[in-house]
Amino acid sequence: RSSATSSKASISAPPEAKPADKMGDGIGSVKQQISRLFETSLKTTFPDEANTEPMVAISTQKFADYQCNNAMSLFSKIKGKSTDYRNPNSVGQAIARNLPPSDIIESTSVAGPGFVNVVLSSTWVAQYIQSMLLNGIETWAPLLSVKRAVVDFSSPNIAKEMHVGHLRSTIIGDTLARMLEFSKVDVLRRNHVGDWGTQFGMLIEYLFEMFPNWEDVGEQAIGDLQEFYKASKKRFDDDPSFKERAQLAVVQLQGGDMKYRNAWKKICEISRKEFDLVYKRLGVYLEEKGESFYNPYIPGVLEELTQKGLVEESEGARVIFIEGQSIPLIVVKKDGGFNYASTDLAALWYRLNEEKAEWIIYVTDAGQQLHFSMLFSAARKAGWLPENSNLYPKANHVGFGLVLGSDGKRFRTRSSEVVRLAELLDEAKDRSKAELRTRLEDSGKVAEWTDEELEETAEAVGYGAVKYADLKNNRSTNYTFSFEQMLNDKGNTAVYLLYAHARICSIIRKSGKDIKELMKNGTVVLAHPDERILGLHLIHFAEMVEEACINLLPNVICEYLYNLSEIFTRFYTNCKVVGSAEETSRLLLCEATAVVMRKCFHLLGIKPVYKI
Ligand code: ARG
Repeated sequence: RSSATSSKASISAPPEAKPADKMGDGIGSVKQQISRLFETSLKTTFPDEANTEPMVAISTQKFADYQCNNAMSLFSKIKGKSTDYRNPNSVGQAIARNLPPSDIIESTSVAGPGFVNVVLSSTWVAQYIQSMLLNGIETWAPLLSVKRAVVDFSSPNIAKEMHVGHLRSTIIGDTLARMLEFSKVDVLRRNHVGDWGTQFGMLIEYLFEMFPNWEDVGEQAIGDLQEFYKASKKRFDDDPSFKERAQLAVVQLQGGDMKYRNAWKKICEISRKEFDLVYKRLGVYLEEKGESFYNPYIPGVLEELTQKGLVEESEGARVIFIEGQSIPLIVVKKDGGFNYASTDLAALWYRLNEEKAEWIIYVTDAGQQLHFSMLFSAARKAGWLPENSNLYPKANHVGFGLVLGSDGKRFRTRSSEVVRLAELLDEAKDRSKAELRTRLEDSGKVAEWTDEELEETAEAVGYGAVKYADLKNNRSTNYTFSFEQMLNDKGNTAVYLLYAHARICSIIRKSGKDIKELMKNGTVVLAHPDERILGLHLIHFAEMVEEACINLLPNVICEYLYNLSEIFTRFYTNCKVVGSAEETSRLLLCEATAVVMRKCFHLLGIKPVYKI
């Protein structure tokens, strides 16, 4: 738990490595709370093995809720030194015996080769849920050991299409940021926009050519920047004198000529407006620090790397050789220009040293895996990151698979060879609106809905469906984009889950009870087996988020959410709620389920729906 900060001798002194994923102060998840009890027991039982980390997991057995798995490895360590223990079971028994008294644990038993099985007290679980209802689900946040993280996501390129890969990056990155933010990490959401590079030469030259009064024209005049890019590329390829001017424009721009810089700014601004529209619709917040931002830092960073002996000359370029890689990381091109890698080195340096981030997370398609692995290796060689990649500060590349169309090829929309995100979102919304209307007409409820409500719900469901379809898969696999599938109201879809949540809200509404009042004066009781199963799944929420954060896997949340709604359905089928003797407690369980579902939606960037 030490939070010692080292005084840095030089700007990039080797970071002080600290163990990953160690608990901070506070309560933490139930698993973390139980781990602490075992930690105490291990320390008193085996004082000579002081560094033993408790290995606690959710039990896979029917008769237990958690288990502690330390006995086997402990036994093999101590058997030569002590005759007190004949086998792993006797070690497990000693660990169980020395657990400090606590309200959490009802009973323990030792089975198998030394597994300590733990049954939680139903009373404690019930109280834990009730206190969450009263004090807010933030009290269930897991504890992570990092204080500040950078999530580098979305990151489209100026004047090029913001394609479906950028949509994946936007959706996955936003969720990762939300998960970490919920876990009290200070997250810097960074849009590493591709706003620099030789393509600006031809864009600027084409701007000058097409619009002599370019300073006054608005984005309407310039119109679609992707088309603009294509047209300028054609000029570049077709006309040698244009090409020459474009190349000179790059030099002018890089030399800081105001006219060229202003033209560059103008082009970036138009792109930014387009990107912002998509972010607004998706409810995603990001702060742009594009490639150009890091330009001034590149020479200093390369200087440092050269002094440390990392940078070598190779075939006219300056490169960093990485062990085990046949091709080096090029940091200065033959022509003396900087590239993607030089920018990323400067950005990584900046994030570690200026922004003091302890965890830097890059969300791009899996195709960039090699780039990031070489970048991180270079950073390790420079001593910016610890050798052990499990220790903080750390850098992770969160790679994701392709989006495929129904033909199994790369996904494209009807109207163009690339997927225009605005069009895609329009279609999702239109389709969900049509389906919602049919559903309401069929159930005779359409008159109870205002146009506004219909619009809002269609948007929440439509955009939610797109996000959920992306997030529910393990991110590293390719997935097939299908509106039919994602808008299905059965199965593991956002539609099903959003409607499930709305139904729980309506159970509570229809009971006529004041739920706030029940929270204060009622009591949660977990007596029926299906009540207990629901209660246990609810209290696993924090450790589920913890796992999703540590492994950077949003699909863990989707899986939990889907299971929750199935477990709730079983509870609701087998346990009468309204009008039963247990009504108060069961309404509170309904409310707790709705609260946890809403937090899952929130983490996934999906707006909940309250009425259906
Ligand atoms: N602009 C890049 C692309 O579209 C993604 C940038 C990712 N972030 C980074 N720091 N390299 O492929």
